[in-house]
Amino acid sequence: MNRPSMMNRPSMNRPIANRPRILTGDRATGPLHLGHLAGSLANRVRLQHEYDTLILIADVQALTTHFERPEGIAAGVRALALDYLAAGIDPEVATIVVQSLVPAIAELTVFFSMLVTVNALRHNPTIKTEAAEHGYSDLTYGFLGYPVSQAADIAFCRAELVPVGEDQLPHIELARKVIRRFNELYPGPEGPALIEPRGLLGSVPRLVGLDGRAKMSKSLGNSIDLADPPEVIREKVGRAVTDPSRARATDPGHPEVCAVFAYRRAFQPADALNDAEGACRGGRVGCVECKRAMAELLIERLAPSRERRAYYQAKPRLITDILMAGTARARRLGDETMAAVRRAMSLDHFPLEGAPPTLL
Ligand code: TRP
Repeated sequence: MNRPSMMNRPSMNRPIANRPRILTGDRATGPLHLGHLAGSLANRVRLQHEYDTLILIADVQALTTHFERPEGIAAGVRALALDYLAAGIDPEVATIVVQSLVPAIAELTVFFSMLVTVNALRHNPTIKTEAAEHGYSDLTYGFLGYPVSQAADIAFCRAELVPVGEDQLPHIELARKVIRRFNELYPGPEGPALIEPRGLLGSVPRLVGLDGRAKMSKSLGNSIDLADPPEVIREKVGRAVTDPSRARATDPGHPEVCAVFAYRRAFQPADALNDAEGACRGGRVGCVECKRAMAELLIERLAPSRERRAYYQAKPRLITDILMAGTARARRLGDETMAAVRRAMSLDHFPLEGAPPTLL
């Protein structure tokens, strides 16, 4: 990380809370994997020193698919926090937030739901893909509407930038539209209450799975998880799908169809990548050797995160404190935004602080 050059960026001279804001997050449904790292987590770690970064542990969104087993979500929340901290999210600069404890998100979701049509949600390509993956035919209101709630996730803290993987782009587009419409309809006495965000894609928007399928995913069972120890990484890379037309190590390979090469592209610097590509195409390095090298490269890339994981794992109370502090801050930001939202919508009927005590 190049700190001196980052210090030259204008936002670095401002206190964190006055910098442009990032919000991004994950469902608390399973461990993070290399796809998350390449898609958005590396961007979050890189940008946390430049932006006021909020990272949302989306436990309410997790309910859209796990509402029958909510008791598992608590462990998911802590596992996600640990994944973030291990990946290098620094709790001194970034704010980690538990979604269900921020009332502003639920309130904004309701207001936003007036501005989104059912057809727009039914045609959302990510909703369609996920519904098919889960085998849903008749969607719940909560599942169909989760992009609306995700727009509220982004809006409640007036985030400007949302680092995400490619599959999330339809949701960012929807958030932009809802927020634009909100600001047009309810201009507010002090200017727009909300900020229209932009998405930011990672170096590799979508990482293939070990089985060569287009998406690395926990539920497809084709992921290398950030928490995987070295021996598991070696074993998983060892069984990754490579070029099927390559019977012998000396056959010319086709890196473009190889999962292992996709991982190289995501995690290796350009010059080493070119060497590996040349060796594969020229039949000079076989898949077994290439996989071995790739596994060691990944193990090395994840070494600092293994160390941080061990550190935080031994301090469960510290994780709780980090989540409490982050969530408390998010609640304050949400209250500020909701005050502006209510003013803009003329729903600030009376101050509750002045209510007669008998009514409270
Ligand atoms: N839907 C995202 C995912 O499945 C998680 C998420 C929830 C999110 N709220 C968000 C992402 C807000 C970006 C911004 O990965």
